[in-house]
Amino acid sequence: MTGDTNRTLVVVENDAALAETAARRLVDRVVSRDRAAVCLTGGSSPEGLYRLLGQEPWRAIVPWGRVHWFIGDDRFVPESDPLSNMGMAQRLFLGSVPAPRGNIHPMATQAKSPDDAAALYEKDLKEFYGADTLDPSVPLFDLVLMGLGSDGHTASLFPHSLSLDEKERWVVGVMKAGMEPYVPRVTLTFPTLASTREMLFLVESPEKRELVGRVLAREARPGEALPAQHAYSNGELIWLVTRDVAPKN
Ligand code: 6PG
Repeated sequence: MTGDTNRTLVVVENDAALAETAARRLVDRVVSRDRAAVCLTGGSSPEGLYRLLGQEPWRAIVPWGRVHWFIGDDRFVPESDPLSNMGMAQRLFLGSVPAPRGNIHPMATQAKSPDDAAALYEKDLKEFYGADTLDPSVPLFDLVLMGLGSDGHTASLFPHSLSLDEKERWVVGVMKAGMEPYVPRVTLTFPTLASTREMLFLVESPEKRELVGRVLAREARPGEALPAQHAYSNGELIWLVTRDVAPKN
């Protein structure tokens, strides 16, 4: 695991400011590119951002035809299931904006198994990237959104799981989730998530304040493993949090 990237903490006043700031950062990352790639995340923290992207003025600002939308992890359920991360993104914005269908890249959660879905997604990512090996100087994504679970997980990379150390595979199946909802998952691995111009963590639950403090300080309680501490980015790594989540100095 690698965890030596420089991190920047950006603190905003409230949930509305978090969504606005994330939307601005997203647009700044994609607007000048001929073809851009954004890796979305699940959880509740990006909901405000997703709603904003579907509304004016952001809806008119995003160059939909040039942006591809991927997902960093998903639950192994149909997209129509309320637990589906891509389903949430579809409901909150992708389903109602002029994004070409071919620009939306869901995981194949109808495949036989999470491992099969992972292999298919890895193929999709490699085709999009145009190579089978990630070159640190050529980012796969322009922006990767991330969240922080209350056990310190990020994407579907759970504490003490073998997938934390995966260096070869771009995407892996996760048969046993480390916390609710206990459905199998499919997740990008750390090196794949790191292949980005910017990784942007969004955290807005005040009850995660102490956890955010430990993650950023690279501390952990005895026996605690915090995967989010090991997330890194080949580009920028930003933690965007609301004031009530920011660690107290
Ligand atoms: C998932 C997510 C997960 C999420 C965190 C944070 O599928 O569960 O991708 O990694 O980002 O659990 O969730 P909140 O934003 O709800 O705190």
